[in-house]
Parts: sequence; structure tokens; C-alpha cells
Amino acid sequence: GTADIDVSKLKIEKSTQPKALKKPEELVFGRNFTDHMLTIEWTKENGWNAPEIKPYQNLSLDPATCVFHYAFECFEGMKAYKDKAGKIRLFRPDKNMARFNKSAARIALPTFNSPALIDLIAKLVKLDSRFIPEQRGYSLYLRPTMIGTQKTLGVGPPGSALLYVIASPVGPYYPTGFKAVSLEATDYAVRAWPGGVGDKKLGANYAPCIVPQVEAMSRGFQQNLWLFGEEEYVTEVGTMNFFVALKDKATGQKTLVTAPLDGTILEGVTRDSVLALARERLVPQGWKVEERKYTMKELDEAASEGRLIEAFGAGTAAIVSPVRSISWKGKLVNCGLKPEEESGELTMQIKNWMEARQYGDEEHEWSYVC
Ligand code: COI
Repeated sequence: GTADIDVSKLKIEKSTQPKALKKPEELVFGRNFTDHMLTIEWTKENGWNAPEIKPYQNLSLDPATCVFHYAFECFEGMKAYKDKAGKIRLFRPDKNMARFNKSAARIALPTFNSPALIDLIAKLVKLDSRFIPEQRGYSLYLRPTMIGTQKTLGVGPPGSALLYVIASPVGPYYPTGFKAVSLEATDYAVRAWPGGVGDKKLGANYAPCIVPQVEAMSRGFQQNLWLFGEEEYVTEVGTMNFFVALKDKATGQKTLVTAPLDGTILEGVTRDSVLALARERLVPQGWKVEERKYTMKELDEAASEGRLIEAFGAGTAAIVSPVRSISWKGKLVNCGLKPEEESGELTMQIKNWMEARQYGDEEHEWSYVC
């Protein structure tokens, strides 16, 4: 295709049936949507067509459409926040766009110019700004999505695609709120593997992860912890990246550790932000920050020696999610919290640092004013 996304060609059709707003405390993650959506069609012949913002509506697709058969789908998760002055802010949208392009390219879907899509998303969120809750912990979750739309059962690169963005007002990701979760280490299934697509945000990576999650929940755990290989490397938690704070066995050195981007780890925007904040603010306080492989055995040993300080998940939906314990090989590995605590100090500190930049309390280049 030839044409790239052209913002100047945007067509806007406003909704004539504005939806009633839900009370923020009644919001369930990803269940409610705003009045409008953004759509941009692509064809191999013409490239990207004129973008449209129009009333939120059903798609109409032929049952043979390739997305339904061969999973030509990728997506993003990002958020818009309302600051104290009422301005709307996206958090590091350039990061989401870069990843969206990488995901699309991996499944033979078209790429696009990132600034144009950020501009269009800003226009969508401004039009639907009344849906953005103002309270701390609340935001507008954005779901950019791309699907192959060619009507064919033939297996090949889609000749047409649809990029769309929908928006959902959200509060805390877990219905229980900001509380520590208990995990079950999954040893019978793997989420991602070397040479695979676990580092891309493909819908196809998510469906196979539900059964292990349901299995963990059936035994009383809120989420599962993904291990990899004979060594039982710790990789991710549910749909989030995973961080642990450890004290070194020999030196007592405090270290924040997360798995490296070796192709099996989702390149989380929150992950990247936590690492940047830690390097900026924890390292001067004497901490070390490491992206390296670590095993469940290492965590278990640290826990039993009182060297596992904290553990938390990191992702756009929940920002950070404190972890209380990990069930592994019939034992419960305690992740450093006292029974009455719902979060460690470091996890809480990181949450506050993140929110200051997301809600624009701290003016920073990560925050994109719409
Ligand atoms: C996240 O933002 O942590 C996720 O990946 C969850 C999302 C797929 C709902």
C-alpha cells in the first residue's frame, strides 16, 4: 500500500445518543465504552484510507474474514488521564505506537506512522473526555486494535485491514482494589518461548493463558506465575511483567530484578517506566537494578533466608500489583509482606512515582498533553 495515515482527512460523525455515565465505583474493567470510536481501513492497493471518528458501533464482517480463522489480530493497552487542571494526558503513547507497529509487522499486517495515530487518539479522547473519571486510580483505558479483514480462508498476508481504537473508563484493575494477590506457579504450560511471539502484543498470546489462570483461581489463587524451562526461570505474572526486590546473599545489596527482554517477555511500557524510575531514584539510594534471568529456586531460597523484600506485577491495567505469596511445588513462598500488609513500601513508592507522571502532578516528557 502507498498512503500513510493522513490526519487532515479525518471525518467526524458525532453520536446523537450520548450514553449515561456510570458511577466510577461501579465500573468493571473493560465493560463500559465511550460514545465514539476511531476507525481506519487499509488496503494493499491504496494504503491507509481516511480516518473516521464515529459513534461506537458493531463491526460487520464476513464469517470468512481472516481474523476469525488465523488470528490476524494485535492490540495495545494505554491510558488517558485527567489532570488537576482538567487537561487530558496520554502516558508514553510513543511507546505503545512503536510496539503496535512491531506487533502488526510480525503478523503481516500494515504499519503506520506513529505521530498520526497519537494525534487521532488525542482527538478521540478529547471528544469523549466526559467519560474520563477524575479520581486517583481511575482513567480511560484505550484499546488500539488491528485486524486482518480480507475475506479468505487462504493462508497468506491479509490484503486488507482495519485499525480501530475504542475507549473504556476504568478504575482499579482487580475488583478487590489495591490488594496483594497470591500466585500459583504454572509448571504444566508455557506462555512464550525463544523464537516465538511472546514479546508481541498479539491476541493469540492471550487466549491460551486463560485456562492456567482459571486453574490457579480454582485452587484459591488470584493469578498464575509463568515459569520457563527446566531451570524454572520466572518470566511474567498473568498478563503482567514481574519484579522482585532481593537482598544479595553475600553482600546484602538491595536489588530490583526483572526478566530481560530476550524475546519471551512482553516489552511492557510500565516495565520500562519502573526500570527508568528505579535507575533514576533508587540507584542513588544504593539500590542495584538488574534485568536478568532468575529462577523460582532463587526466589524460594531468598524467601527462606529473609532476603525476598517484595514482589509485584507491572502492567498498564493495574500499574503495579503487589504479590503476597507464590505456591510452588506444594509450598508457599512468602514474598515479604506481613499478614496485615497489602503492599510493600517499595511497591507503594513506585506506584506513587508512576501516578505522579501519569496524572501530570509531576511535569515530565512521558506525559503527552492532548
Ligand atoms: C496489562 O495492561 O497489564 C495487560 O496486559 C492486561 C490487559 C490485556 C487487560
